[in-house]
Amino acid sequence: MSSPHPVTALDLSADDRARFADLAVTSHRVITRHQDPGGAYPASPDFSAYAGYSWLRDGAFTAEGVSRYGDAGSAGRFHDWAARTLARRRGQVDGLLAVAREGGTPARSDMLPTRFTFAGEDGTDEWWDFQTDGYGTWLWAVVTFARRHGQGLDRWRGGIEVAVDYLTAFWSAPCYDWWEEHAEHRHVSTLAAIHGGLRAVLGADGLDPVRADAAASVLAEIRSLVHAQGVAGGHLTKWLGSTAVDASLASAVVPFGLVSEHDPVAAGTLRAVADQLDTGGGVHRFRDDVFYGGGQWLLLSALLGWNLAVRGETGAALGHLRWIADQATEAGELPEQVPGHLLHPEHRQEWLDRWGPVATPLLWSHGMYLVLADELGLLPEEDAR
Ligand code: BGC
Repeated sequence: MSSPHPVTALDLSADDRARFADLAVTSHRVITRHQDPGGAYPASPDFSAYAGYSWLRDGAFTAEGVSRYGDAGSAGRFHDWAARTLARRRGQVDGLLAVAREGGTPARSDMLPTRFTFAGEDGTDEWWDFQTDGYGTWLWAVVTFARRHGQGLDRWRGGIEVAVDYLTAFWSAPCYDWWEEHAEHRHVSTLAAIHGGLRAVLGADGLDPVRADAAASVLAEIRSLVHAQGVAGGHLTKWLGSTAVDASLASAVVPFGLVSEHDPVAAGTLRAVADQLDTGGGVHRFRDDVFYGGGQWLLLSALLGWNLAVRGETGAALGHLRWIADQATEAGELPEQVPGHLLHPEHRQEWLDRWGPVATPLLWSHGMYLVLADELGLLPEEDAR
């Protein structure tokens, strides 16, 4: 597979190169060992609050890492599962579209779920439903997968059409964000994921003319809305009308392309994330984060690193990969977050009491490690995988 921004031999010792390659092998093994036979990737197999569920957000990024690793079989099974799961929601989405056509607003409880059981059902536990970003992220991931592995989109057509119809109708509704918080706002990272998904599927010529028109106008509307209300101090903001940053905003540049890499707002956003949220390579979600005391997230370190690699800041990107590798447990598992630097330490214990130790392994952390390792040309040789 291609490695667009390789680290050179000068930047890295042979030992480090071997260590990073080993963690890629382990990451792929962790992800595939826990993949459900039906294709779903569990978010974290044993963590109390996540066990038994697959999120489109986590799963789509995880599939991107697995695809870059060269395992089209596992990633393809995830996309087959997601497409099947969404295609079975055709009737539900048609019902929602009918309400919207009549000028109504469907109840949140009638919207598509945030996470699915491995059988593709809604769970029975209460969760922070309704979130739209995962549907956009999945569209982006399945199109990227198809292009990388030389496949057409027909295999996933039913699911793609459900996701496109859902997003073109409900993209502007306030909903929970990537972190399942603040349902009252419209989040720029959510809009970015929707933009990334619709843009990918449009660019792949994957839509009939009616859907293509709807997707093209939503893309334009998202861009003008974010331009008008989602930028402050030269950077994208956490939600429309806010001035805060959130590390998930890096995704608006790479991979979702809501802001072009050459736009000063891209540089401003990455700088704001780095200045306000990066401590020694580990990246916090946002300044007010109290979840497990507000630690540093491995997948966000990888997201920032991926963006820096694309900008040619290879040394800084490598610093993020190294930081992530340093957080692996002895068994090579990557957690969701680590407590080395906490923004709100007084809140850590309440989450330990409520949900137990931090989710480990988190498959999304492993998937993002694979993405960054690939971006830097640090996956093992194909015959060593
Ligand atoms: C995170 C979500 C994630 C979910 C499953 C939550 O704590 O906020 O972003 O999708 O865990 O990993």
